[in-house]
Formats: sequence, C-alpha cells, structure tokens
Amino acid sequence: MKVAVTGGAGYIGSHTVKLLRENGNKVLVIDNLYNGHQEAVPDDVTFIKCDIRNTENLKTIFNEFKPEAVIHFAAFIEVGESTKNPLAFYINNVSGTLSLLSAMEQTAVNRIIFSSTAAVYGNPKTVPIPETEPVKPINPYGQTKACVEKALKDISQFDNLSYVSLRYFNAAGADPSGLIGESHNPETHLIPLVLKTAKGEREQISIFGTDYPTPDGTCIRDYIHVNDLAKAHLLALEYLMSGGKSDIFNCGYGKGYSVREIIETAKKVTGRNFKVIEEERRQGDPAVLVADSSKLRKILNWNPEFDDLEFIIKTAWNWELNRRF
Ligand code: UFG
Repeated sequence: MKVAVTGGAGYIGSHTVKLLRENGNKVLVIDNLYNGHQEAVPDDVTFIKCDIRNTENLKTIFNEFKPEAVIHFAAFIEVGESTKNPLAFYINNVSGTLSLLSAMEQTAVNRIIFSSTAAVYGNPKTVPIPETEPVKPINPYGQTKACVEKALKDISQFDNLSYVSLRYFNAAGADPSGLIGESHNPETHLIPLVLKTAKGEREQISIFGTDYPTPDGTCIRDYIHVNDLAKAHLLALEYLMSGGKSDIFNCGYGKGYSVREIIETAKKVTGRNFKVIEEERRQGDPAVLVADSSKLRKILNWNPEFDDLEFIIKTAWNWELNRRF
C-alpha cells in the first residue's frame, strides 16, 4: 500500500512508519520538524518537510505520490501547554487537520487514520472506558481532538471519506532495536522523566498528587507499548482498505498502573535508586484513565505483544541510555 504519514518523524509516527515499512508498504513522511526528528525517519522512506496547514503543498505532494490512505499524527500534544496557549492548539490541530482533509478531498485521497486521545473523555464515569463514554474533554488539547473527531464524522457522512480514529491512552516504551524512541523537548511524560532521574540527568522525580481516590493516592494510567500502538494503525489501515466503515477505537491494554507503581518498576528495571518527592496535583489530570479496548481486539483483531510494564520500561531505558536524537 502507499501511505502518507503526517508527523511521521515524531514518537508514535516513527514507530508506525517503521512497522509499515517492515510490512512492505510504500511510505511518505510529511513533517514540519517542529517537534519531530528527521533521524527518526528510515533512509528508504521519502521525507518531505511541510506544514499540514499548507494545503497547496499537500495537494502537490498527494498528486505526485498518490497515497491510498493518510495516517495523521501531526499535532501539538502537550496538555499543560494547551491550557496556556489554546489558540496555537486550535490552529495546528484543528485548522491543520481541516487543511489536510481539504487537500485530500481535492486529490481524491479518501481514507484517513486519525490520532485521537483518551483526553477526549475528560473525567470518565465508567472505567475501563468504553468508546461509548460521553466525550467531555477537560483541557484544550482534548477539545481540539474532539473537534476533529466531530468534523470527521460529519465529513464522512456527506463526502467519500472513510476514517478510523484511534484514541490513544499512554504511549510508552521504545522500539527494541534501539534505533528510535521517545524524544520530546521539553519532556513532560512520566516514564521518560523517571528514567532521566534514574540516569542522573535530573535530581528528582515529582509525584503530582497523592490524594487521588486510588489505592495509593496517585493517578492511574494505561501504558501501552508504542509498537502495539503502531500495530493498531496497520490493522486500521487494512480495515479501511478492505472497505471497513468509519469507526473509533480505544488503544490501551485495559490495565492501569499508578505513578508510584511506575516509579517502583523503574527502580527495579534500572537497578538504580533515586529521589522521589511528592507535590501538589497537576492541573487537569483525571484520577484514572484505563481503556476498554475490547472493540479494537474484536473488530480489528488486535493482539498486543508487549503488554508487560517491565518490558515497556526496559525498552524505554535502553533508548534513554543510547539515544540517537
Ligand atoms: N506525572 C507525575 N510526575 C511527572 C510527570 C507526570 O506524577 O513528572 C503523572 C501525571 O500527573 C499523570 C501521570 O504521571 O498522573 C502520567 O502523566 P503523563 O504526562 O506521562 O501523561 P498524561 O496521562 O498526562 O497524558 C498522556 C498524553 C496525552 C494523552 C493522555 C491520555 O501525554 O496526550 O496520555 O491518557 F491525552
């Protein structure tokens, strides 16, 4: 298959590109390198530096490459930043996606896989969270993703567009090859920050909130290995190519770990002790986010391979010790 991947130089994008290539697909990466790393794109993949808001450029690219589908990762992702600069998030995540959809429509590219997020659920009532849970984001980042999901639903009803929206829970870990991994600047995610502390790059790790209604008082998240998440994209692509109807799927294991459990597992995996301090809650953090991923397993036939927290942290640690970018 011929697939265009926006944001293919980013964390989840680059792991998906690698998997797409390993499965014999022809891949084109479009990335403005605002947060992505060109080193994360394999040499045998065409890379074009382009911003998704540039509709005309996208049209030229699509007319030439003629992708059968687009996998759309490119977006701003940092929740905290979205509360400080919401306009930038709406411009990039919403306008950017509309620009992409417009370019796709004008060049007859009519399949898209969209990177959505568990953040669309806000503070969910049902845990594990099914896809039928109301969409009620509590931060601008989640709002922008929910906006795009609404647009996709409307557009697909009237245009010849089919889509799969994948609602990611907490992507973590790195490709076991050590060639690619997570590299955000600034880094705000728990696992890489814990490992940077184990490495000695940071003095201490803060636990944001110890008074949540959870067994140990800290937030619980569903950490999914980035390669299992990449696999969900491959399956979604095959699903759309074989005529599957537009749909939304949660991507997580259905199992949650607390912040304290992550820290303890990181100490065990790295064999290092480090300083942990307790701080106030971080604004906008729901207590528990755990996926009900039965729909992904049933309809897309998703069978995760790396549902093992120690393995996830081990691959992230290997990357942290031998980072290429
Ligand atoms: N945390 C700490 N200390 C830190 C960093 C994080 O205690 O130094 C806590 C957070 O408060 C949270 C948990 O660790 O309770 C996980 O935080 P992350 O920042 O790693 O991830 P989030 O759950 O906040 O967000 C991630 C993605 C979002 C996505 C969400 C969906 O960054 O884009 O998962 O579950 F929406």
